[in-house]
Amino acid sequence: MKKALTIVGARPQFVKLSPVARAFEVRFAHVIVHTGQHYDDAMSKVFFEGLSLPRPDYQLGVGSGTHAVQTASMMTGLERILLKEKPDIVVVYGDTNSTLAGALVAAKLNIPVAHIEAGLRSFNRDMPEEINRIIADRVSHFLFCPTETAMDNLSREGMKDAAHLVGDVMLDALLLHQPLIERHSSVLNRVGVQRGGFYVATVHRVSNTDDVQSLTAILEALDALDASVIFPLHPRTRNIMAVHKMDPGRWKNIRFVEPVGYLDMLVLQSGAKKVLTDSGGIQKESYCLGTPCITLRTETEWVETLQNGWNKLVGVDKKAIVDAAMMPPPNVLRKKEYGDGHASDMIADILMNRLS
Ligand code: UD1
Repeated sequence: MKKALTIVGARPQFVKLSPVARAFEVRFAHVIVHTGQHYDDAMSKVFFEGLSLPRPDYQLGVGSGTHAVQTASMMTGLERILLKEKPDIVVVYGDTNSTLAGALVAAKLNIPVAHIEAGLRSFNRDMPEEINRIIADRVSHFLFCPTETAMDNLSREGMKDAAHLVGDVMLDALLLHQPLIERHSSVLNRVGVQRGGFYVATVHRVSNTDDVQSLTAILEALDALDASVIFPLHPRTRNIMAVHKMDPGRWKNIRFVEPVGYLDMLVLQSGAKKVLTDSGGIQKESYCLGTPCITLRTETEWVETLQNGWNKLVGVDKKAIVDAAMMPPPNVLRKKEYGDGHASDMIADILMNRLS
């Protein structure tokens, strides 16, 4: 049996790993490395438990730091593990510093790299994630794309031959867990809201958190909406608010809560009037769940969600955010995007065939 080694470290990667781990179970000896980029229980442990993920075989515990410190520390630890484990393939996910570190170390050791969620582009190099994506794609041998748009991006950049259109592993995860959500989540009771009677918001992009004016504009807009806003607070955002003495009690319409687990977040998204976010994964999840999304950015990698007004790019202008929230929901059906829920099996099959 060939050996696959997966590198994850941040919250959305735990979600992406869940269907991939199932698909790999019967086909590969699978070693899982957690870099420790996300380390709070609410950002990591609850996901491993909630998604029934296998315990990581290695935990690097790198924690926070500047991009160079965090990435370098991951690379040092990963090199040691890859030299010891000698995997046949290294698998990295998405666009975080853990993705970049894993792809670079493996490529330099001449171990083939598979990049899941390849080919996405925001065309905004101010985003650290954009740099991570471009480099990870460049050094990977297998580029697994969730969409035609991603395939086209890679084609334009001369990487067509390594690209495979497989669909989105986050849709796999959603379809896998959707039957469980209502039964296993009591989040609506816990936060005291009823289906259709609230908004849900998340904010963690550097451009929105580290610019206090942007963050304040977003919070003022949320405060002006016509129903309460449930706001699971990402540690980055919580820290910035603390540093700038932004008292959460100032925004009476916003209910700040701790980060919630995967099933709870799906319930919040499917029960909300609308979702307001700067996350990539959440734009896509709300599209798949049929809840209109308002994106607090001026561009998106997930352009399919913009069709027929299911997702609106509004940036951080207070009036634009409020106006978008007040618009009636689209009355046009969504097109089926992001595959058929079997991206992970396709990835596992392609790797099995190509590595044998
Ligand atoms: C990272 C990813 C982003 C992904 C996001 C998901 C990069 C460059 N960015 O952003 O692509 O969408 O994760 O959440 O890799 N912190 C804690 N506890 C934790 C984790 C983080 O307190 O468990 C705090 C630390 O102060 C840290 C800050 O949050 O400095 C930011 O964490 P970091 O991993 O650098 O980036 P994210 O903003 O989470």
